[in-house]
Amino acid sequence: MSEPKLSTADILAKIRAAKPSASSDAPAAPAPPAPVVESSAPEPSAVEAAPAPPKPKAAPAAKPGSTSDILAAIRAQGAKGGAAEAPAESAAPKAAAAPKAAPAAKPGSTSDILAAIRAGKGSAAAPTVTAEAPAAKAAVKPVAAATSGVAKPSVEDMLKAVRGGGAIAAVAIATPAVPVKPVLPPMPMRPSAAKDKKSTGTDRRSFVAACLSPLAIGFGSMAATSLLWLLDLARFMFPNVLVEPPTKFKIGPASDYPLGNVSTKWLAARGVWIVHTDQYKGRNLIYAIASVCTHLGCTPNWLEGEQKYKCPCHGSGFYINGINFEGPAPRPLERVGIKLASDGQLEVDKSVKFQEEMGQWEDTNSFVDGALA
Ligand code: FES
Repeated sequence: MSEPKLSTADILAKIRAAKPSASSDAPAAPAPPAPVVESSAPEPSAVEAAPAPPKPKAAPAAKPGSTSDILAAIRAQGAKGGAAEAPAESAAPKAAAAPKAAPAAKPGSTSDILAAIRAGKGSAAAPTVTAEAPAAKAAVKPVAAATSGVAKPSVEDMLKAVRGGGAIAAVAIATPAVPVKPVLPPMPMRPSAAKDKKSTGTDRRSFVAACLSPLAIGFGSMAATSLLWLLDLARFMFPNVLVEPPTKFKIGPASDYPLGNVSTKWLAARGVWIVHTDQYKGRNLIYAIASVCTHLGCTPNWLEGEQKYKCPCHGSGFYINGINFEGPAPRPLERVGIKLASDGQLEVDKSVKFQEEMGQWEDTNSFVDGALA
């Protein structure tokens, strides 16, 4: 038949109920007074077998209220020694042989009381444990010595053991001890490893020396030259793009260019003079003259005061109509194409040229009738 588990409240109630009988000076009875134990926890022990004696009326002790009161009472009971021995002998056979061999020691701390509970193995009621505390303290020593180096059971484990009647010592022994690893001194470096480390430094110096050798420098220079040559070849694969202004452009209406006038408005931007004159074969014409000397290609200047084009390079001179008359220039200046556009503006086309010595000035694309201006 399994025992019902005792709660903490029940255990404390047992201790409170047993306190008067353990602390009183009543004569020793054949069985310890444990009426509460029988009613709440019917355990198969010597306490249950004994008949319940009537409660002593001579010295009723005050019932302890809290756990600290109970512990204080247990300590006081331990101090009494001989008075508590009588009920301990009858309640616990283990402690019966102990009183004479082991003198009653005072259970001073809570750990001593808990050790006494462990020694009682929880099967007996709390008063029995309290009474046999002095003797049990001596009995606990070998157990503690046997379990040195083993984890100490907690209070909760002890309470579980009291409820279930198990042995605390068994729980403590079942807990494995944590092995302590020995601390070893550091191992010295192997001679082979030290040799490898030294050889690494030597290899680094050898590598630097090899990089600075004449042969390495020569090969490096050749590699750099080859790289530059490849880059230049890649640039050659892409054609040069020369951004030039369009060859055809409009210069405005003919009325902007009066007769007998040379306009330098488009000289800097387009390189042409716009001339309106009647000094070529007596014809009133408007035409565009390229500003390129026919000697070696310099750019002449229009001299308004002298009414001529003068080349600054070798002194060639040209009339207002472009005919050369001085200097090394072998032939007249060249005309470019000009026409009247549909919108009434003059349009110049530098892509075509007309040379006087070739008879090309007679081409209608080389002039515009000046009467339109
Ligand atoms: Fe004009 Fe020589 S380049 S005169």
